[in-house]
Amino acid sequence: MEPTDDSYETISCEVLIIGAGGAGMRAAIECFDRGASTLMVCKSLLGKAHTVMAEGGIAASLANVDPQDSWKMHFSDTIVEGQNLSNWRMAEIFAKEAPERVIELEYYGALFDRTPEGKIMQRPFGAHSYRRLCYIGDRTGLELIRTLEDQVLKRNISYMDETEVTCIFKDFQTSSVSGALMIKIRTGELVLVKCKAVIIATGGCGKVYAVTSNSWESTGDGIALAYRAGAGLMDMEMIQFHPTGMIYPAGVRGMLITEAVRGEGGILTNVKGERFMEKYDPKRLELSARDVVSRSIYTEIQEGRGTPNGAVYLDIRHRGASYIKNKLPSMYYQFLEFANVDITKEKMEVAPTVHYQMGGVRVVPDTCETNIRGLYAAGEVACGLHGANRLGGNSLSDILVFGRRAGIAASEYVKSLTSIPETANEDVEKEIARILAPFKNTNGTNPFDLKDKIAATMWKYVGIVRNEADLKKGLDEIGLIKLDSKNIQAKGPRAFNQSWADSMAVWNMVLDCEAIIRSALTRKESRGAHTRSDYPKKDDANWMVNIITSLKDGHMTQEMIPVPKMPPEYEALINREETLPWKKNVAAKKQ
Ligand code: FUM
Repeated sequence: MEPTDDSYETISCEVLIIGAGGAGMRAAIECFDRGASTLMVCKSLLGKAHTVMAEGGIAASLANVDPQDSWKMHFSDTIVEGQNLSNWRMAEIFAKEAPERVIELEYYGALFDRTPEGKIMQRPFGAHSYRRLCYIGDRTGLELIRTLEDQVLKRNISYMDETEVTCIFKDFQTSSVSGALMIKIRTGELVLVKCKAVIIATGGCGKVYAVTSNSWESTGDGIALAYRAGAGLMDMEMIQFHPTGMIYPAGVRGMLITEAVRGEGGILTNVKGERFMEKYDPKRLELSARDVVSRSIYTEIQEGRGTPNGAVYLDIRHRGASYIKNKLPSMYYQFLEFANVDITKEKMEVAPTVHYQMGGVRVVPDTCETNIRGLYAAGEVACGLHGANRLGGNSLSDILVFGRRAGIAASEYVKSLTSIPETANEDVEKEIARILAPFKNTNGTNPFDLKDKIAATMWKYVGIVRNEADLKKGLDEIGLIKLDSKNIQAKGPRAFNQSWADSMAVWNMVLDCEAIIRSALTRKESRGAHTRSDYPKKDDANWMVNIITSLKDGHMTQEMIPVPKMPPEYEALINREETLPWKKNVAAKKQ
């Protein structure tokens, strides 16, 4: 029977995990192994997550190829390339634990590419000082998800896919997490989950931009859930543009072209045939940091040196067909099948695409706790590790390191509670009224149109290079869309209703956009991925701060807090000359 009313089923568990990408699955494994009753939910199908879009590798200082590498160098690269905005403790935990997590992944069954001696192979990636990316061709994220999914299924961990969480509830008296409301997308039925803790692992909000490597799920739901529950967000202005996305055909515009193409020697040229990275970063060239390469490509195109399609060229032909097919099989087929381009014979056309959010929910480094008791966040939805620019490959190790840590902390926390905190009936009723409103609206706005408007607005006004006038225009536009979204209309029955799902996505996206733009307006400097043409310089004297966005008295407010100071022994690690030592070693060996 098709549900039409506001009735709901009630279930319970100790830890509810929202999201089943790498962070969610790794958290679920940890909670389950520690004896917590665990439920993982995701709005897509199990195994489909943006994790697969980290194709080129997982960063960890195993030092299999470059013995000089160490956790300290990985820590240092992460902080330096994050333009000193990262939380040092998060970076320390991350760099120290990443190698263990990679070995664990192998133990779980991941099939990595190998060195001739049989060790896990490692390749270079932008701005990593050593060859540090452990990989499976150009399908690393996919193999990571496959492996974790095997572990989840092997343990028989409870999960519900095609299930969307709309709200996190708190106990009226203690303000600690008490549950969540969910929609079963397949039937449109509502479910109240009573639980002691929630881990948000929903990934990012790439879909608020018109050109993105992200797929339909990435509408920033976790950010909105956390914010509405009272959690602080941090550094929301920091959006990563991956330098290389596909340009045509239109249907795949923005689709990722892995950085591994450049890691394997790919060269960027403009329409005049110039290797333009020589101008922007003569030492690191195509393997400069992502923010630098994206800005460089953007500049070439803006200044008229792009291709007629508004792109630059990426060329890997010199590596030869069999090498390309072996190391970059997905890229080979992606271009052949979608664009009818054989990358062993032809150059690719590429341009930046929105790929990742460095900002997100503010968490305690060791435990991934938010400022709400019982609420945790891990992976892309959380903030603190990547600062103003994430290094390629760091996201995969991030989700394993902090997915596990969130799982440890949440399962410890739930043990400390004797019962599930109370969820007030009126809170549930209010939320149900909110989410069913689009069915009651008549002559309302069309959610599909609003989604398109959001994406176009963000692309136009909140792009790679920003300025006050554009940001203000963007904020105004988003404000109008927000107004329109109050009267959004869903049509048809509740089962598999895309217009209903999109109505809720629009509410979340609008909130994310407002936080992004307000933070971007606040930060009056250029740092990492946040480039302001009206404030073109990095300004350490005034802007070594994290921008916190939170809900206070019904309003979005922002405050600035100094970036936590690292211990003096770590400061020495980050004051260093920018080079790629492995390149020097390779050059020395060749002589
Ligand atoms: O280019 C890539 O393969 C993406 C990796 C990442 O974002 O970590």
